Amino acid sequence: MSERRPAEKNLAVHPVRLVLDLDAGIDDALALAYALGSSEVELVAVVASYGNVTQERAARNACALLDLLGRPDVPVYAGADRPLGAAESFSPAAGVVRIHGESGLGASELPAPSRPTRADGVGWLAREGCAAPPAAPLTYVPTGPLTNLALALRARPELAERLPRITFMGGALGVPGNVTPCAEANVHNDPEAADEVLVSGLPTRMVGLDVTHQVVLTREETARWRALGTRAGRFFADMTDHYIAVYERNNPGMGGCALHDPLALAAALDPTLVGCLRTNLRVCREGAVRGRTVCDPRRLRDEAKDAEVALTVDAPRFLEEFCSRVRRALA
Ligand code: BDR
Ligand code: CA
Repeated sequence: MSERRPAEKNLAVHPVRLVLDLDAGIDDALALAYALGSSEVELVAVVASYGNVTQERAARNACALLDLLGRPDVPVYAGADRPLGAAESFSPAAGVVRIHGESGLGASELPAPSRPTRADGVGWLAREGCAAPPAAPLTYVPTGPLTNLALALRARPELAERLPRITFMGGALGVPGNVTPCAEANVHNDPEAADEVLVSGLPTRMVGLDVTHQVVLTREETARWRALGTRAGRFFADMTDHYIAVYERNNPGMGGCALHDPLALAAALDPTLVGCLRTNLRVCREGAVRGRTVCDPRRLRDEAKDAEVALTVDAPRFLEEFCSRVRRALA
């Protein structure tokens, strides 16, 4: 390992200089609130990617959410608008629109944002990720497809040595996918990008469906947000109730909605929340298993392991952190 790579213990140094890469649907918005309610976090920027919504809509949502949460100063950069190699910009499938709503934030819509999106999020990420001093590295947490990171690594391969371990939401190792029987949505949206990142040498921590389906939010908590009496509390309660209603239809018996993206962010800030398998990962790219994350058969016996895959989670402790941090952001 290069001496230049910032050690992950730097994550304990305050503030954590966080960059969120969001496809700005409902659970991405919850991750954003979690970040803003976290006292150890300095939110440096948001990169907005296609995924749950179009790239343009993701950028609009990220700006509008930051306005709502009182942080219009945080810059939002435009990320990729399509998967690697795609000829056209990406629009979500009808099933995804049903889950996250037309706006991407449930049935409600936020007012137009106070400022424009900045251009070239990929270039910005590559530059800033490389320029950050090892004592204050960027903590980059993608909760959408890994296209922006793959493009940034293509532009500046040394980025793989300059970022500390990145924690991403995506994939499924031991459980079924949520788009196909094999594939989870973020990896499914760009399997090539995810595969490029996983073989780049950049250390990763995968927070996939194995653990995100173990952390469930109920309407009891959204009622508390509504009772805060703030505009943000009401908006987040309505938005999340929409998401919970989708889960009640599609995953009856779960008792609420999964907190995919907030768990990835929480595990980036406090890796002791999850128990991980150390391995090397790849993504299947062909046939019915396209988009499946698997242990790389060619690197099974390698001593060096680039990836940590979260397989267990301290759900009660995470939920406590989630509720107190998000309430702080909405108050
Ligand atoms: C992931 O896919 C997106 O729909 C969610 O925002 C989350 O990042 C869950 O599979
Ligand atoms: Ca997401």
